[in-house]
Amino acid sequence: MGDSEKRDPVYYGGYLQLDRLLDCQKPLAETVGRPAHDEMLFIVVHQAYELWFRQILYELDEIERLFAEDPVNDRSMGPADRLLGRIHEILRVAVQHLDILETMTPLDFLEFRDVLYPASGFQSVQFRMIETRLGLKRADRMTYDRQPYDARLSEDDRQRMREVDEKPSLSDLIERWLERTPFMETGGWTFTEAFRAAVNDALDRDIAYLRDDSSLDDEHRQREAARLTAAKGRFDALFDADAHAAAQAEGQWRWSMRALQAALFINLYRDEPVLHLPFRCLSRLMDLDEALTNWRYRHALMVQRMIGLKIGTGGSSGSDYLKTTADKHRIFKDLFALSTFLIPRSSLPALPEGLRASMGFNYGPITDRKG
Ligand code: HEM
Repeated sequence: MGDSEKRDPVYYGGYLQLDRLLDCQKPLAETVGRPAHDEMLFIVVHQAYELWFRQILYELDEIERLFAEDPVNDRSMGPADRLLGRIHEILRVAVQHLDILETMTPLDFLEFRDVLYPASGFQSVQFRMIETRLGLKRADRMTYDRQPYDARLSEDDRQRMREVDEKPSLSDLIERWLERTPFMETGGWTFTEAFRAAVNDALDRDIAYLRDDSSLDDEHRQREAARLTAAKGRFDALFDADAHAAAQAEGQWRWSMRALQAALFINLYRDEPVLHLPFRCLSRLMDLDEALTNWRYRHALMVQRMIGLKIGTGGSSGSDYLKTTADKHRIFKDLFALSTFLIPRSSLPALPEGLRASMGFNYGPITDRKG
């Protein structure tokens, strides 16, 4: 007898454990004798989010496993790219759940808001895990009422977060993977020297245009010149260990100098076949960062619409606090900042011929084909 003959036939509701899943929506206002129609929607939307967060964490398990290999297996890049893309789609759809929630008006929300105190989405441990596992460091988080973000979690949840905090994040794994990027030096050629010279030329040209632009008044010219000089300083910090350490201490860069150089290299020479997938993975990380930031802004706007200037049920300043986290809790900021230093393909230093050949797909004749 085969396995399938011994088992009961699979039944839709049993497989999905719908008895349990659909028994988890318990409006609280009802229990204090003030049923509020929209509380069901409030619960279902939050639960839908938590299910998606669960899926994101599940995908992160696999992506981290692939990037934790040293070296990362070439054949892992395709799956990693696909799963990063999946997380991005989930986040994009998740933002739209807020549209459904906004069919509840601020007045409807007031029917049950008071029973929620002091609970808040601020205590969503899965959301904190996603932020942390992507790469948001404890030290870079906003404090809340002068307390760390986890002060309002239960002791069990705090302990779970401590364990997550101690593990390398996806950002850490990507940093190490970037640091191992080959192809950046060969023979007497080094990418950093060739590229540094090309960008410095471009920045010097911009400074000269500015000096000669008669349409600008002095104040405007000085302001722009200061901006370009600052950009030059930040650029130098990509090639000089001391300057990089100082820029890192000021929070200008998070990743190591070598990782940043490699990310630049991949961005610039992404047309070389061997760099296609690494480039796509870096783009996916920017997509994720953007989608998460979109969610934060959209959530902050919804909060403003629902509660105006009131403080949150968790005790924060509400939408003001949330808008600040949208900027401060960006994770792959380095990748966005690197775009400042991209130059047109026509100005890119040419790769030495041998190196270029080794970065293509070199198919020799297939000799062992049978039949
Ligand atoms: C009527 C709808 C909602 C309102 C009025 C609201 C309000 C707030 C407020 C005021 C905060 C800041 C902390 C506080 O003082 O409580 C917050 C944080 C948060 N909320 Fe919501 N929220 C709503 C819906 C949602 C939904 C559907 C989710 C989905 C999971 C969510 C997830 C979060 C998360 C993760 C945080 C922490 C954000 C951070 O610290 O950066 N919220 N919410």
